[in-house]
Amino acid sequence: MYLKKLRLKNFRSWPNLELEFSQKLNIIVGRNAIGKTNILEAIYFLATSRPLPPHQLADLIKNKEKVSSLVAVLVDINGYEHLLNINLVLEENLLRQAFFIGKTRVNRQQFLDEFRVLFFEPADLHFIIGSPSRRRRVIDRFLSSVDWQYAKALATYQKVLRQRNNLLYQIKNGQLETTRLWPWNKSLVKYSNYLQRKRGELIEFFNHQQERAKRAVRLEYQKAYLSLELIRDEKNLRQEIERGITLWGPHRDDFLFLWGDLPLLRFGSRGQQRLAYLWFFLSQRDWLKKVTQRQPILLLDDLFAELDAEFTQLFRDSIQNDQTIITDVEERELLKEAKVIRLE
Ligand SMILES: Nc1ncnc2c1ncn2[C@@H]1O[C@H](COP(=O)(O)OP(=O)(O)OP(=O)(O)O)[C@@H](O)[C@H]1O
Ligand SMILES: [Mg+2]
Repeated sequence: MYLKKLRLKNFRSWPNLELEFSQKLNIIVGRNAIGKTNILEAIYFLATSRPLPPHQLADLIKNKEKVSSLVAVLVDINGYEHLLNINLVLEENLLRQAFFIGKTRVNRQQFLDEFRVLFFEPADLHFIIGSPSRRRRVIDRFLSSVDWQYAKALATYQKVLRQRNNLLYQIKNGQLETTRLWPWNKSLVKYSNYLQRKRGELIEFFNHQQERAKRAVRLEYQKAYLSLELIRDEKNLRQEIERGITLWGPHRDDFLFLWGDLPLLRFGSRGQQRLAYLWFFLSQRDWLKKVTQRQPILLLDDLFAELDAEFTQLFRDSIQNDQTIITDVEERELLKEAKVIRLE
């Protein structure tokens, strides 16, 4: 599937906008605040029915307006066109959404099956330089979007973890016996194993991509491996009760980028950090293709800030077969074959 046309009405800063895209590389060029990111958000919203994090749904409608509509014309591999449409209506601060494929109203799930996108923005660098919880969130969000079983297991794990931590706290206060933990231990280990296995597969996949291997960029999975032996270990249990938290499991995992031997978190230049993250982004694309047999549309906001000509060319070579939509404040020499959409 590729996106051929986009029509927006009262979406964010755009009262009326109609754009046509090429099947390969597209660059949306325009000055600051003209509404480039808003266009990517519209495409992201059509694919996911969610605003870009951390935005609010109610802010998507143009200020002072009550109704908005987004239309996407997609073309499948047989050349057939599919018309997708979301209507938004604001009623007393509540935003209602209606989904249509062609003229038929459908539910959210049917609608979301139509096409996939992957979104990149400069702030994603926080995957490398931010906190471990941020990294876990990025990995979880991605794996959940590809695999509903992962999403379900994650939700169950988090519930069991909360329960167990509550019990630890009560045991610490002398209100409960430690035996009360036993039933929770077993399911915690079961879901923990599943989540850590899936995370491990994704990281392994990333590390085996040729281009990344050549540059010696690796993602190291620092797994806080939780086993039944460990969770039954007396010394570990004493520490857990003392602190009132479960010390091992996916909620304590971390993921570290290495360039050669050096952790990019501490030693990487901004350009290296950005390129490493872009490679991870492209691995997500490849993983998505492998698991869902679908080719996602790549949305990249302000991609070229801080990338030099060599890295830009490297990146360009890796997206030859993808429909890609990039925003930029100026045109680049390097990307002559791109379709340029100039916003005035
Ligand atoms: N719901 C809304 N109603 C009206 N205007 C909005 C709404 N949401 C955002 N805007 C406006 O859209 C503009 C920002 O658009 P956007 O972020 O897409 O710009 P941009 O072209 O990506 O800029 P930059 O180059 O700085 O990233 C702002 O001026 C903002 O006020
Ligand atoms: Mg922007």
